[in-house]
Amino acid sequence: MPLPRSLSVTSLSGLDDWTEEFDLGDAVLFEIAWEVANKVGGIYTVIQTKARLTSEEWGENYFLVGPYMENSVRTQVELIEPTNPALKRTIDNMNSSGCKLYFGRWLIEGSPYVVLIDVGFTAWSLDRWKSELWENCGIGVPWFDREANDAVLFGFLTAWLLGEYAAQCEEPPHILAHFHEWLAGLGLVLCRQRQLPVATIFTTHATLLGRYLCAGSVDFYNNLHKFNVDKEAGDRQIYHRYCLERAAAHCAHVFTTVSHITAIEAEHLLKRKPDVVTPNGLNVKKFSASHEFQNLHAHSKARIQEFIRGHFYGHLDFNLDKSVFLFIAGRYEFSNKGADVFLEALARLNYLLRVNHSEVTVIAFFIMPARTNNFNIETLKGQAVRKQLWDTAQTVKEKFGKKLYESLLVGQLPDVSKMLDKEDFTMMKRAIFSAQRQCLPPICTHNMLDDSSDPILNCLRRIGLFNSSSDRVKVIFHPEFLSSTSPLLPMDYEEFVRGCHLGVFPSYYEPWGYTPAECTVMGIPSVSTNLSGFGCFMEEHIADPSAYGVYILDRRYRSVDESCSQLTSFLLQFCQQSRRQRIIQRNRTERLSDLLDWRYLGRYYISARHMALAKAFPESYYYEPQDPSSVSGFRYPRPASVPPSPALSRHSSPHHSDDNDDDDERYNEDLEAEKDRLNIRQPHSPQYRDKSEKK
Ligand code: UDP
Ligand code: G6P
Ligand code: GLC
Repeated sequence: MPLPRSLSVTSLSGLDDWTEEFDLGDAVLFEIAWEVANKVGGIYTVIQTKARLTSEEWGENYFLVGPYMENSVRTQVELIEPTNPALKRTIDNMNSSGCKLYFGRWLIEGSPYVVLIDVGFTAWSLDRWKSELWENCGIGVPWFDREANDAVLFGFLTAWLLGEYAAQCEEPPHILAHFHEWLAGLGLVLCRQRQLPVATIFTTHATLLGRYLCAGSVDFYNNLHKFNVDKEAGDRQIYHRYCLERAAAHCAHVFTTVSHITAIEAEHLLKRKPDVVTPNGLNVKKFSASHEFQNLHAHSKARIQEFIRGHFYGHLDFNLDKSVFLFIAGRYEFSNKGADVFLEALARLNYLLRVNHSEVTVIAFFIMPARTNNFNIETLKGQAVRKQLWDTAQTVKEKFGKKLYESLLVGQLPDVSKMLDKEDFTMMKRAIFSAQRQCLPPICTHNMLDDSSDPILNCLRRIGLFNSSSDRVKVIFHPEFLSSTSPLLPMDYEEFVRGCHLGVFPSYYEPWGYTPAECTVMGIPSVSTNLSGFGCFMEEHIADPSAYGVYILDRRYRSVDESCSQLTSFLLQFCQQSRRQRIIQRNRTERLSDLLDWRYLGRYYISARHMALAKAFPESYYYEPQDPSSVSGFRYPRPASVPPSPALSRHSSPHHSDDNDDDDERYNEDLEAEKDRLNIRQPHSPQYRDKSEKK
């Protein structure tokens, strides 16, 4: 397939165009990460969502390299014969030298090729490679660190792969290898040490020390310049990992990270300033009907409501239609992800809603994987009871309907007192009796292995949120990532997010933070912080983020207690919104999605790759750095329409009822019309600018 001579990243919704003239020639791109076809956290999302754009640019010359994980391969990868002859020879040679490499297509958008390496198969080389690492690089990896052992195996195997590939090429090749995160970093170090003809990029998605220091009780951001990095790493027994990470950052032709805040951190902790900041994008789905995402919200919300009916059986003494669903999700890093702040704010919110006799009930979900041995009985029973009640209602409904029909057929109005017989009442009573419950609805959906030391459970015990009927804030802790095949809550993560009202991510340590970004592109408001890459990025590009449903918590200049108060006030304000205000806000949130689309943000990765090729192969490539960050001057102005804040909003119609769905439909349409009228889809248009400037 011929390669494009240049690539332009298209303009979206009036955001600026960007074109870079660059002839890739015969270059081949390998992108290497431990999370290729292996879901752990956000790095998987980066690679998986970016694949489409990268495949469009590199075509047949793009190969992802990751670890072979049997379960993921079975469901996500189609194994095939390598298409590229040099790569085929490379894989065959390695496989006949005691390695196990697989080649296939990853079944995601863009269908990129993947080379998957079974690192365990070559574990017999671990000691030899570790001593080579010690002799050549002075990095000693202790036997007990399993993750670091995997990093050593993966590093030596990827360097072997690249070296062998270079040897198999008939012409001197132009190989570009992009390594993500410390776990893949050793391959880069070895490429440089062996002087392979490979242009290298290292992207860090967090620094090891940053993650560890923040998880402790350290005033991280005020002391960045003061840390004695070697000592801190040694104290935490991660010195060897730190050395691998720092070596990769320094050996790379181009070093990048995901946000400006992490760039500063890297400069202090890894001692190299990133050359390019590569913010994370997403594949934004566009629907033919522009408010289809609102319908999806309503549909998914109904499914969550069903789950809640089961979970709270016997205690459904609150109005589900006036319930607001909040959630936090991600890897279980209690304080780094801000679960501590969220819990404290929920306790305060519970108090405020109670004293104000609010009709609103908040259901807060915690989706954070912890060690469990499966769902607990009480939770499964809840769904079974709900199902039984549903079945009973259906049976009675059918009998009722049949009698009614028969009576109408003979031209008579039915005698309502005879529609149900004694048996029906017995059946209904039995169903009601079985739905009684002596205990409170469970907090946790699973049997936790570390129940007594679990930070979320302990915090809930301390603040006294137990799902009692007087609580206006109820909590459900689901210590496993969501899946559409779950017998309990059969929804995938995306469906679940769509059905919620607000994502709450009050992170203290968050280089980017995909979770709030994903909320935004699905039109779901979220809370993030000014210590997360995403929060800072949105603050930079939006004049009034909260008006767009992007609440940015101040965790930089405030104490923890003050941040908790600020979050409480965001949450209370959110709970006071009417349905109409929530609909308006969701429309606005969704309007920001183009800003987070890879079609827009992909330019930074493209730039980094061109830069690396030109640095490594100056005789073949020339790169004139142009500023791809023309976006930095761009800001979404304050929305011109009705503000979503409860205090300021006015009803457009005096007869509008908050709970009338027909009105909602009409309102959605009005909003769409308003958007068109203001030309909001093209924020650069003079018409739009005039409007906001006048404000
Ligand atoms: N996620 C998921 N299933 C869940 C909860 C989260 O797949 O039930 C994903 C989510 O879509 C996001 C990733 O986990 O892409 C977390 O990435 P983020 O950058 O927020 O944090 P990280 O875990 O990388 O620190
Ligand atoms: C969407 C749907 C409406 C529905 C509304 C509920 O906008 O299109 O039909 O009424 O969601 O919103 P809520 O914020 O109360 O879940
Ligand atoms: C890391 C960070 C997260 C980021 C992700 C993808 O895991 O913790 O903030 O979104 O990488 O870059």
